[in-house]
Amino acid sequence: MKGKFIVIEGIDGSGKTTLARRIAEAVGGAELTFEPTRGAIGQALRSGAYGDIPPAAEALLFAADRAIHTEEIKKKLDSGVWVICDRYLGSTVAYQSASFGDAADWDWLLSMQSKSVITPDLTILLDMDPEASLGRVNSRGEELSRFEKLDFLRKVREAYLRLADILDYEVVDASEPPDAVAEKVLKIMEGKGLHAPQ
Ligand code: TYD
Repeated sequence: MKGKFIVIEGIDGSGKTTLARRIAEAVGGAELTFEPTRGAIGQALRSGAYGDIPPAAEALLFAADRAIHTEEIKKKLDSGVWVICDRYLGSTVAYQSASFGDAADWDWLLSMQSKSVITPDLTILLDMDPEASLGRVNSRGEELSRFEKLDFLRKVREAYLRLADILDYEVVDASEPPDAVAEKVLKIMEGKGLHAPQ
């Protein structure tokens, strides 16, 4: 694969979209994408069309959306394009483990995705206190979804930090201003030899 694959993870309101744009600018253009996708499964997950389903079903649907998305990402990387993805496999482990709430499911959430994902060149975890991130989301005037509840997001944050240890995520303090966050991330990229494509 010739292009580089960069993933940004973090709780709702942590500034993933802003950072993705900054990175794309810095590397002189990259394909920005996100999950859940705009595909049939992703759209249905977003709209709540599946209704109140068991956490395992939800996890499998997010993973199926990702499996299809991964094929598209691979094609882009093969053609030399850099891809920056807002959420990837870590979102399912962090959010759905927060819904399940026990360690056995954590292993399953990782293993059931193992054949349908690729390893990113870099995963950035934008870490911040959910109280602060919820403040940001509220100030954008967005409706509070069931995902955006404080206690839940605390569990998600914990899971993300645990995952960061296991999967070598680069943890960046997202409570700082967007410019400072972007600067830190660009330094990390430089350190990893992730330079702008020619
Ligand atoms: P997203 O559109 O990224 O929300 P936001 O822009 O507010 O961060 O994702 C929608 C919600 O879906 C978000 O609360 C996280 C959740 N989600 C999961 O629970 N599991 C997953 O695998 C993914 C990709 C998202």
